[in-house]
Amino acid sequence: MRLYIGYMNKLVLVSLISCMAASCAVDKKIDVDKELAYCDAQIRKALPNMTDPGRGARNIAADASDPQWHCSDINDWTCGFWPGILWYDYEFTKDEEIKRQAERFSEAIIPILDNKNHSHDLGFMFFCSLGQGYRLTQNPEYKKQLLRAADSLALLYNPVVGTINSWPGMCKTKSWPHNTIIDNMINLELLFWAAKNGGSQRLYDIAKRHAEVTMENQFRDDYSTYHVVVYDTISGNRLARVTHQGYADESMWARGQAWAVYGFAMAFRETGEKAFLQTACKAADRLLENIPEDYVPYWDYSDPDIPNAPRDASAASVTASGLIELSQLVDDAQLSEYYLGIAQKMLISLSSEKYQSRDKNVAFLLHSTGHYPDGSEIDASIVYADYYYIEALHRLKML
Ligand code: GLY
Repeated sequence: MRLYIGYMNKLVLVSLISCMAASCAVDKKIDVDKELAYCDAQIRKALPNMTDPGRGARNIAADASDPQWHCSDINDWTCGFWPGILWYDYEFTKDEEIKRQAERFSEAIIPILDNKNHSHDLGFMFFCSLGQGYRLTQNPEYKKQLLRAADSLALLYNPVVGTINSWPGMCKTKSWPHNTIIDNMINLELLFWAAKNGGSQRLYDIAKRHAEVTMENQFRDDYSTYHVVVYDTISGNRLARVTHQGYADESMWARGQAWAVYGFAMAFRETGEKAFLQTACKAADRLLENIPEDYVPYWDYSDPDIPNAPRDASAASVTASGLIELSQLVDDAQLSEYYLGIAQKMLISLSSEKYQSRDKNVAFLLHSTGHYPDGSEIDASIVYADYYYIEALHRLKML
């Protein structure tokens, strides 16, 4: 615990300054049941237009020309989030019709496992959908498919490098022979889960080693993260550190930093490795430096257009969910209260008129940024912002 005290002094100072600055912007309590009921109402507005279970929610453009979800098929990396949202809604409402929809959308993605070409996204796709379904139903078929997904994900592991090759499709197109992205941390949860649920111990070893190598290579000295680290497949040497979705190779892409906070908190929960907990804390500290007054990050902290740059509500919802978990893992009461307080402020802000979609569209949230350099999903509603928002509300309710 002593490790965290010195760190905490700086953290508490930073937090006090930023909390004082932000206190007028976000200064009330969150009514978790009210916000979960809001999510349920939005889902019920969306469902009648979502008749094909092979096509889940993906995004809604900012211009509000069409208030319904623009859907994508089961090959899209986001296909697990809509069924996952339905599972969280079922947990809240206990409504059998919502459960039936959660099952339909979850089961529709199983055929992906018959494909040969996978990426690290298998974790997002399966753990957020069938993983949530299995947690609530113990359906043995879901367990079987989750174990298959974990084994397929493990095929991307290179033992010389010590990490999963996140985007095999980019090995040739980008000359990134073995690439690991910070987002990949989230997908280790499927491997940890599988190792505890009938899968091989090797899955645990792979996940732990991946987190260790990521910890060594994906962070700058100030604990901001690189998006992509490129390795040599034969020697395992690090070749380059670059970005794909951020502003610049040396910038801090907000969602990448959020994945780091969430991912290292989860990796500590699963392994008890103190260095992972420290890394999660330091990544959170870095993310919270210069956080805007309303606690919703700009899409990238180096965008010269700040304060006019787009926000990323998804970075806030991933961070809020990760901070709630982190608050339960640190063994210092003051630090725990601090992280929980920040998560609540983020959720209060996301639940305000500025960020909730309400009658503008059927999503929960507005103002996320998907892939700015590509010009796609800028200032949009995006399904993973909604998934981590409802997850964070659920985590808060469960405390
Ligand atoms: N994992 C992809 C993204 O965060 O956009």
